Amino acid sequence: MRYKPLSAATYREHRARFRQHLEKGGMAVFHSNDIMPTSADGSMPFHQAADIMYLCGIDQEESILLLFPDAYDPKDREILFVRETSPTIAIWEGAKLTQQEAGALSGVATVLWTTAYEATIKRLAPQAAHLYLNSNEHLRQSTEVETREVRRNKELRALYPLHSIRRSAPIMHRIRSRKTAEEVEQIKHAIGITGKAFQRVLRFLRPGVMEYEVEAEITHEFIRNGSRGHAYTPIIGSGYNACVLHYITNDAACNNGDLVLMDFGCEYGGYASDLTRTVPVNGTFSPRQRDVYNAVLRVQKEATKLLLPGVFLDQYHKQVGELMERELIGLGLLDKAAVAKQDPAKPLYKKYFMHGTSHFLGLDVHDVGLWTEPIAEGMVFTVEPGIYIPEEKLGIRIENNILVTKDGQIDLFAGIPREVEEIEALMAQGKKAVA
Ligand code: GLY
Ligand code: MN
Ligand code: MN
Repeated sequence: MRYKPLSAATYREHRARFRQHLEKGGMAVFHSNDIMPTSADGSMPFHQAADIMYLCGIDQEESILLLFPDAYDPKDREILFVRETSPTIAIWEGAKLTQQEAGALSGVATVLWTTAYEATIKRLAPQAAHLYLNSNEHLRQSTEVETREVRRNKELRALYPLHSIRRSAPIMHRIRSRKTAEEVEQIKHAIGITGKAFQRVLRFLRPGVMEYEVEAEITHEFIRNGSRGHAYTPIIGSGYNACVLHYITNDAACNNGDLVLMDFGCEYGGYASDLTRTVPVNGTFSPRQRDVYNAVLRVQKEATKLLLPGVFLDQYHKQVGELMERELIGLGLLDKAAVAKQDPAKPLYKKYFMHGTSHFLGLDVHDVGLWTEPIAEGMVFTVEPGIYIPEEKLGIRIENNILVTKDGQIDLFAGIPREVEEIEALMAQGKKAVA
């Protein structure tokens, strides 16, 4: 395994959190993702479903986790099913987890081969009052592809039409939103690698390099540090491209005098980091670039302070909008009188800052979480304001990752440069080293 997983004690703790929310007689089943096909006999690299990863750390296709705290036999209260391995599989695909290894990693006492799943369900479902089925309830999920979980849920509902059905997703959103200590460490590890990649880019960047060359530098640094790669498709947008919010083609030259916006984050052990930095291609901000940059930076610093336990995320976003409004007036982009008369449902700042400021971060980059409940200790958020001025071919976003604590925040990006002077000094050093 390329990464150090969380401890079995933490996976036990995650399952204990889930159990606390189950009704009496509830039996929950969690499935792995499919290995997605490409074409011919090709497939995409396996990416484990975040919920089963969270509950047991088993990063292997076809694994199933069954949680049934009220099962009659204590051995049936937690069962992990893993794909049966064989000498042939070991030769062609490499060794898969043995039952002993899966048990040690997850802390689950009963480990069976996946081939035993159907018979086990038939044996245990009659004891259960409620079937807890999982589904993707992310606010921005896309349902075009039928997942393994959706298929298996259909089978269970057909087999047991008279069992009551319960949703696991709201429980998962609740428990995953407050990170345990080892999860925070894993996110910090991912951030550490992302920070190294940023430093590497500062040494590498110069007029004429292609955006994809910058991407290659980042990927190189990720892989050599034990990451499997990017937590999401990186955005490397120079000049006007920085104003295209989901720009991922990364195929233009970085030109002298332009800024380059880089939104990338390494994945480590399933956990995401999510950084954005915007820097001058030639190493020096122009006065206008510096002014807009510092406006975004002030909003980021002030917004971070607002992420406190008890605050609602919609209130927070409204307050950040007001901070941004002031900065845009200061930059001459918005007119103070027009802002005073604006329709509050359509604030004028959205012309230059059209996305949200913060999202939950964890196993998914846009992690699941509680959007309509107060912020709580242990939540990890991004803070990522931006100003985009297409007519000036100028787009700036700065994004850090923040842990909310009992009475404040910890900036998990502390030490990753973001001040104008730091960036310029580091880029100047990089140039000297090359010359
Ligand atoms: N990298 C995606 C985002 O910043 O939300
Ligand atoms: Mn990002
Ligand atoms: Mn983000």
